[in-house]
Amino acid sequence: DEGLHPPEYPWSHKGILDTFDHASIRRGYQVYREVCAACHSLDRIAWRNLVGVSHTADEVKAMAEEVEYQDGPDDEGEMFQRPGKLADYMPAPYANESAARAGNAGALPPDLSLIVKARHGGADYIFALLTGYVDAPAGVEIREGMNYNPFFPGGAIGMARVLFDGLVEFEDGTPATTSQMAKDVVTFLHWAAEPEHDERKKTGIKAVILLSALTLISLYVKRFKWTPLK
Ligand code: HEM
Repeated sequence: DEGLHPPEYPWSHKGILDTFDHASIRRGYQVYREVCAACHSLDRIAWRNLVGVSHTADEVKAMAEEVEYQDGPDDEGEMFQRPGKLADYMPAPYANESAARAGNAGALPPDLSLIVKARHGGADYIFALLTGYVDAPAGVEIREGMNYNPFFPGGAIGMARVLFDGLVEFEDGTPATTSQMAKDVVTFLHWAAEPEHDERKKTGIKAVILLSALTLISLYVKRFKWTPLK
């Protein structure tokens, strides 16, 4: 059972020239931090990666400082705790895999850094998954601790529905409906998996303009040079 095929959603960054909606990345970070980060790590993202993308350097420094990191050894050979810095990576909710499984009835919440790239269906699949929890159809038995989601291959998923209307409060006044939070967190996770996305598209259009110009020039020069040799 492959799971229900997700719809194709009209992401605002979908077109070949469209960059990410950075206000959405910012709201999505908030959803990740306040909801998903309770169970999921984001190992490949450092605090500094958010600077200039979703937050200012001062904002990110302040957010990093709220987290305690273990460092050391110091001159006496002792480990110590210190506030986070821009160079630190996102803190993980569990110390290791067995702790993560123990906290989730045996299921392992995957690291979300590359999840948009790793799952078939990408952003569309994750949006459909987050918003797609429904009662199991008659005749489908879901064992204790599992949840029914038609988009998850097999139908029975260890993660329960986590997004409900009004769960977070967005500072920009955007109503935090289930689908709004899902859209924003998936946009954030898409950025996390593809931080070079905007640059790639901007470079792409520059390359197309430049190569078109060079083609036109070379066609003109060719005609010009060959004119006397008819
Ligand atoms: C699995 C996203 C919140 C526990 C997953 C998967 C994704 C995901 C994409 C992978 C599904 C697959 O394998 O195809 C998110 C997002 C969250 C969130 C975006 C926040 C909006 C949470 C929370 C918990 C949790 C709060 C714990 C209370 C799990 C577990 C799995 C999982 C245990 C593994 C499920 C299984 O393999 O059966 N999540 N999650 N997630 N998540 Fe979450």
